Amino acid sequence: MPDVSHPDRTRDDPSGAGGGFGVAAGLHHRENETGRGDLSSGAAPGSVLVDDVWESFKVYHERAQGLRDRLFARRKNVTEEFWALRGVSLRLDPGDTVGLIGENGSGKSTLLKCIAGILRPSRGTVQTYGRTASMLELGAGFHPDLTGRENVYLNSSILGFSRRYTDQVFDEMVEFAGQQVAEAIDRPVRTYSSGMYLRLGFAVSVHLQPDILIIDEVLAVGDAKFVKKCYDRIHELKRRGVTIVVVSHDLETVATLCDRAIYLERGKVVADGPSVEVVDRYRADVTAEQGGAVGRWEGGAVYGSGDMTLRDIRLLTGGERDSIRTGDRIAVKFRAHVNAEVDNPVFGLIVRANDGTYLYDTNTLWRHQETGRYAPGDEVEVTFELRANLLPGRYTVTVAASRHDGKVVYDWHSDALGFDVAGEFVANGLVELDGSISVMPIAGT
Ligand SMILES: Nc1ncnc2c1ncn2[C@@H]1O[C@H](COP(=O)(O)OP(=O)(O)OP(=O)(O)O)[C@@H](O)[C@H]1O
Ligand SMILES: [Mg+2]
Repeated sequence: MPDVSHPDRTRDDPSGAGGGFGVAAGLHHRENETGRGDLSSGAAPGSVLVDDVWESFKVYHERAQGLRDRLFARRKNVTEEFWALRGVSLRLDPGDTVGLIGENGSGKSTLLKCIAGILRPSRGTVQTYGRTASMLELGAGFHPDLTGRENVYLNSSILGFSRRYTDQVFDEMVEFAGQQVAEAIDRPVRTYSSGMYLRLGFAVSVHLQPDILIIDEVLAVGDAKFVKKCYDRIHELKRRGVTIVVVSHDLETVATLCDRAIYLERGKVVADGPSVEVVDRYRADVTAEQGGAVGRWEGGAVYGSGDMTLRDIRLLTGGERDSIRTGDRIAVKFRAHVNAEVDNPVFGLIVRANDGTYLYDTNTLWRHQETGRYAPGDEVEVTFELRANLLPGRYTVTVAASRHDGKVVYDWHSDALGFDVAGEFVANGLVELDGSISVMPIAGT
């Protein structure tokens, strides 16, 4: 393990502890200290400046050289330097929501640890402004022998909050974490399940007013209901202008939650831009590596070969109203411009809930619908008609065109449209199941 407590780091790290839910992340710049808007760059709380960061690890190999050495156990220890980050520069402004994507081992967690202050870059600098809460490895940042309650107070005080403040938010935090955690709050956290760790850790992170929230994949261990609750809360923090940096292999989540995505490859930034575009580029790379064949669309491995270009994608609502209400008929229309000879191309549409939940997916292939034969320069208009049996909330539409067998994507537009469904609040969830309730007294009882 590299040394994690560097006294001379560029920012104030009061904890010196490694990893964690807020603990290690520490309070990099306390309000009354340097760093709050006092830089010539005018950095405000919530800003992050990563300047030409390189991070190396020493890797020890026990290398037996040849049979003779192996037999006589004459081993030679070799140290190699491994560069996990190679010149990463980025600037996050307050309120940015950024997803870090890339293959396993591309440096995502290392970069997060540098931003959270758990690792000091070998070269370059990282500056964060404001209170940073991070959820990196599960359980790190909690002291295993202390109870849940004690850990909450410890984290809170490390982040610079008074006991009184913690008293005020304590119940809310525990309530957020849920029943099991509430019951176990006075037990040492080493007795918690991974999900319970996550619950308490997340509750602490979001209740301690972060300016910057850093999350590495940990949500993966939560149960579906809690993960949804976490995403709701993350969306709320986003609306409040908290800077959010997440690592996730769930590309739909990145595309939905984050406005911006950064794609790392072998420690370098290869793309940085609007999340939908960067996610598509990453998918295209993954797909290309797999030989260009795309399985089912929902698998997410998608790119555009360019044989067709979809444009002018729009949503039409029934009447004059531009809002959609539960049960309305809607239409999604687009034009497909043909760039190469195509025969019976497939047109498809996916509807997702705002948190990425896959709701509806249909296409002309599954419907055995012939679509025609086209030559370069042709234009096709495609219309999907749907009934929005959706409960009030926000939804997205993805559209795509592919080869007749669905295996080569000509053009794919993830979440090309977003729309809101309005309606009277009589049920919660996603789908209108046309419920009704009857309540009747039973005579004679
Ligand atoms: N403490 C360490 N010592 C040695 N090598 C390390 C250490 N931490 C990370 N690395 C190496 O640095 C590279 C980047 O690792 P990192 O954990 O940042 O990848 P990642 O993008 O988060 O991957 P994943 O998607 O699997 O979580 C990997 O090759 C990894 O082996
Ligand atoms: Mg990682």
